[in-house]
Amino acid sequence: MFAVHLMAFYFSKLKEDQIKKVDRFLYHMRLSDDTLLDIMRRFRAEMEKGLAKDTNPTAAVKMLPTFVRAIPDGSENGEFLSLDLGGSKFRVLKVQVAEEGKRHVQMESQFYPTPNEIIRGNGTELFEYVADCLADFMKTKDLKHKKLPLGLTFSFPCRQTKLEEGVLLSWTKKFKARGVQDTDVVSRLTKAMRRHKDMDVDILAVVNDTVGTMMTCAYDDPYCEVGVIIGTGTNACYMEDMSNIDLVEGDEGRMCINTEWGAFGDDGALEDIRTEFDRELDLGSLNPGKQMFEKMISGLYLGELVRLILLKMAKAGLLFGGEKSSALHTKGKIETRHVAAMEKYKEGLANTREILVDLGLEPSEADCIAVQHVCTIVSFRSANLCAAALAAILTRLRENKKVERLRTTVGVDGTLYKIHPQYPKRLHKVVRKLVPSCDVRFLLSESGSTKGAAMVTAVASRVQAQRKQIDKVLALFRLTREQLVDVQAKMRAELEYGLKKKSHGLATVRMLPTYVCGLPDGTEKGKFLALDLGGTNFRVLLVKIRSGRRSVRMYNKIFAIPLGIMQGTGEELFDHIVQCIADFLDYMGLKGASLPLGFTFSFPCRQMSIDKGTLIGWTKGFKATDCEGEDVVDMLREAIKRRNEFDLDIVAVVNDTVGTMMTCGYEDPNCEIGLIAGTGSNMCYMEDMRNIEMVEGDEGKMCINTEWGGFGDNGCIDDIRTRYDTEVDEGSLNPGKQRYEKMTSGMYLGEIVRQILIDLTKQGLLFRGQISERLRTRGIFETKFLSQIESDRLALLQVRTILQQLGLDSTCEDSIVVKEVCGAVSRRAAQLCGAGLAAIVEKRREDQGLEHLRITVGVDGTLYKLHPHFSRILQETVKELAPRCDVTFMLSEDGSGKGAALITAVAKRLQQAQKEN
Ligand code: BG6
Ligand code: BG6
Ligand code: GLC
Ligand code: GLC
Repeated sequence: MFAVHLMAFYFSKLKEDQIKKVDRFLYHMRLSDDTLLDIMRRFRAEMEKGLAKDTNPTAAVKMLPTFVRAIPDGSENGEFLSLDLGGSKFRVLKVQVAEEGKRHVQMESQFYPTPNEIIRGNGTELFEYVADCLADFMKTKDLKHKKLPLGLTFSFPCRQTKLEEGVLLSWTKKFKARGVQDTDVVSRLTKAMRRHKDMDVDILAVVNDTVGTMMTCAYDDPYCEVGVIIGTGTNACYMEDMSNIDLVEGDEGRMCINTEWGAFGDDGALEDIRTEFDRELDLGSLNPGKQMFEKMISGLYLGELVRLILLKMAKAGLLFGGEKSSALHTKGKIETRHVAAMEKYKEGLANTREILVDLGLEPSEADCIAVQHVCTIVSFRSANLCAAALAAILTRLRENKKVERLRTTVGVDGTLYKIHPQYPKRLHKVVRKLVPSCDVRFLLSESGSTKGAAMVTAVASRVQAQRKQIDKVLALFRLTREQLVDVQAKMRAELEYGLKKKSHGLATVRMLPTYVCGLPDGTEKGKFLALDLGGTNFRVLLVKIRSGRRSVRMYNKIFAIPLGIMQGTGEELFDHIVQCIADFLDYMGLKGASLPLGFTFSFPCRQMSIDKGTLIGWTKGFKATDCEGEDVVDMLREAIKRRNEFDLDIVAVVNDTVGTMMTCGYEDPNCEIGLIAGTGSNMCYMEDMRNIEMVEGDEGKMCINTEWGGFGDNGCIDDIRTRYDTEVDEGSLNPGKQRYEKMTSGMYLGEIVRQILIDLTKQGLLFRGQISERLRTRGIFETKFLSQIESDRLALLQVRTILQQLGLDSTCEDSIVVKEVCGAVSRRAAQLCGAGLAAIVEKRREDQGLEHLRITVGVDGTLYKLHPHFSRILQETVKELAPRCDVTFMLSEDGSGKGAALITAVAKRLQQAQKEN
């Protein structure tokens, strides 16, 4: 009995001595709680540095956005391929997610070796090898005939701008294949896969192993929002608030950040805790100077750290009686699995002896105890460091959520964590001590990271399918060159048709003679009133033209025309107009003045002279009764009479295109075309009298108001009209009419956009599938909003703000789609308009028998003026379709009122001359 006690005493004394000895020797490796709290603080600062745009480039901890935005919600499904490359084992898998509505995942996998010649050889060969393994797997599993999406777990730091792209920042751990750094591993692998003609695989996602692990665990526990790997390498990811991620646009929801904490300390931030052993280990590694934190923690390095310590102790005579073996001198001879074995509860000491003997040493009992304690210190430090960084992440999560206590789950994987007997317990304990305000559950990922990677791929594949649906809709708006040439040819035919006597009456492009026969010549002078009705604004103007100097002074006032009046009775409308004139005259101090007046009336009118215009039919937003078929000049005169306050001499009625051409023609005599791309769409041009069969005489030219908005009303462009165009047409004031206008002008583009958005929402592709009241409201997308949304200078968030101001509760993804829709619709409009214009310039060129035509187009309209791309695309299209015409676009700065006044001046002069004769 006594002997037993003595033995026990002797043993515990021996143990105590050895432990003390080692503790003294490795004093620097034992980290106090204060030190851990300090490291935790430092890591928090590192995270912030990595997240902020201006400090990220120099940050050691890269905090990489992963474009994984949500943890699995159970709706994921499908069959996927998966590759898991970068941990201790390389695996190829087939994953079946959620069969028959059940939350269930089935996996079949196959391990493949990763020989050093491959992982440290030529990069292209590495990817070819990976592709070969995949091909082999598909062959064995009889999957070659299938087209399967693939999720790649790639456990190295990658910069991502989307889920399906990963630019390798640097190799870590055991990999060092040449020529891969700074390239996108997805395209590299895709390229390598192309060598297998019978393989049809689409890589939809690349994820880090931490992310895969988090997602794997989150499939079972929705509280999981952190993923940690403590294996060959070490790293963590967590869900960060989008508003804190500077590097990615958008601020709603969260995104998973791959911290790449292994690089913590690469900028020297951990020098005070690194030891001589850490330095020596680093120097002998594949990536000296890199992954400082990882090298103090992870499985690839722990054994080596122990070896370096033992060697030093032996050299100092503190172990093995000062004897060293050649194995102890050899790099890599002690591995993490040895460390784990030596630290086992019961067999630990026996294991230690065995391992040391295998290393060619002759350990005493005391040596074994000491060596075991070295292992404990090294692995404990590892767990401590991991805990400190993890505690920093948890604190950040708690603060982001603004809660007192955080309940959360950390998904963990990695051989060190899995095979080391004490590691998990130690880690958990220290974390709980460092963040007492968090209730943390640690969940071991049983099935590796691939299950999670498959979840990400499932979501990506759903997004891809949705993308395809969206693209299908947008494709309807994409016109080929052939289609545009066809539009041009048809427009040309319609123009000719409208000019001919026998077909004029039936023409959809009406080709209305305007009785404006020449451009201003600079001799015009006098004071004129002008009205400008039919565009966005109704204006009354006073225009003073001074002869000789080609200078004009204008005063104008904008008046509103209430909807009730636009769509009330004709009398009301004209009374309102006269009321506005009276107000204006009053305002100008011209009460009672009798001035000549030019009336810009932007609707199709049949004219027999310059001062007579019978309204053929309302267009755009007007629909006043008793006006169609009436002479609008008469109607205005009568309204003036009814008011009986002043008299006006209505000299000319002009279309806005004509007014615009004149405004511009005053400065550029080459301006023989007027174009409006505004609320409505129309064009006028100077035609040779001999071509105008409806008007007597062959001399000179006359301006023709084409009213091209009606192009297509006979169905000739139905092949390019979409169901959305039909919808917009049916909901308009003039169904079946103005089909071309409805595809090209401001009043309708927003409506087309709205119809598309409604459809996409119905398909569940937008606004969470909810059609809001707002979206049902006609006319919400005015030209100015379309123009803002499409502006290149606008960040996504601003687009979203605009949509929200419009009452559309849109996410950032929604905003991207809305912007694309707007782009597709406005682009088509500009191209169609360009094709129309190309038809007219080509006609003018041919009519005049010219090789080349130089011509100026006077342009006005909010769409042309405000939209960021419309004018450019229009001009490009004209150039493309009418390459032999040199077309100058001149923006009408002063509106069409000036032109109307000039026309009035000319008409007045002619009137005078006629009277005098
Ligand atoms: C595996 C995961 O379970 O763990 C891998 O599937 C991961 O994606 C690995 O890289 C990490 O551990 P180790 O020890 O293999 O590096
Ligand atoms: C104005 C002209 O500048 O532009 C109007 O003065 C014309 O006559 C208008 O109708 C066209 O653009 P919008 O966008 O106002 O219809
Ligand atoms: C290394 C890699 C990292 C990976 C970790 C665990 O640190 O850089 O991307 O997550 O190892 O495998
Ligand atoms: C409509 C009108 C037309 C006008 C155009 C631009 O198409 O019918 O007359 O020129 O809009 O305002």
